[in-house]
Amino acid sequence: MNRIHLDKIKSYESPPRIVNIFSKKEIKMMQQLYTDLPERVFNKKQNVKKKAWIQNYNKELDKIYFDKLKDVLGDFKMDTLKSETGEDFYGLFHESFSPLTLHVDSGFIEKDIIYKQVVTPLSSFGDTVVFKNKWYGRSTSFTSDPEELKFKPKPEQNDRSCEHLGEGEFDKEIHQKYLTHIDINNLKGLKIELIYNWKIGETLIMDRSHIHSASTRIKEKKLGLTTFTKK
Ligand SMILES: [Fe+2]
Repeated sequence: MNRIHLDKIKSYESPPRIVNIFSKKEIKMMQQLYTDLPERVFNKKQNVKKKAWIQNYNKELDKIYFDKLKDVLGDFKMDTLKSETGEDFYGLFHESFSPLTLHVDSGFIEKDIIYKQVVTPLSSFGDTVVFKNKWYGRSTSFTSDPEELKFKPKPEQNDRSCEHLGEGEFDKEIHQKYLTHIDINNLKGLKIELIYNWKIGETLIMDRSHIHSASTRIKEKKLGLTTFTKK
């Protein structure tokens, strides 16, 4: 796709950072909210359960969350789909039983000024691997598998692409330690920006354009909350 505001998008970019904005009590409230929310999708292929943060289940927490994001992000809009009644979802809870592979959550709308994504671990083991490499097309899953590449996405589904691939073998030690669920040949030309070890009480903030993946390290399952934002 053709990003209409690519310069604007880039002007808002900054290195990933880790912040401590939520108290233990607030993290507990988020874990409880996850339990209370209705199940939305169980993606069998990805082996991940997702629940949208629907507003008004816990109004106090809605306000805390929005205000704290505003403190660290400045002005932003939510970009995590909307409920049937047109209200913004505040994020997506994802409970993974196997690690997600290489992708980008850059959105689907040409005119949008994509901004930051905010990842809050709600369980304490595992990692998010953030690559320096960026992508400004639609949300995409990256693969070198010719069969996968034939996939034709529906409007809100990820593209498939191998155009992330570049020159240079990927670091074998890092592959062995964190990324054995991904074929090392599918990591050619990628460089690590940050390997974020999940820790409860922390929140990772990064540009929507960063290619990223989960690490292989999962102890039974992993629970996190991600909020996508735009300007
Ligand atoms: Fe993601």
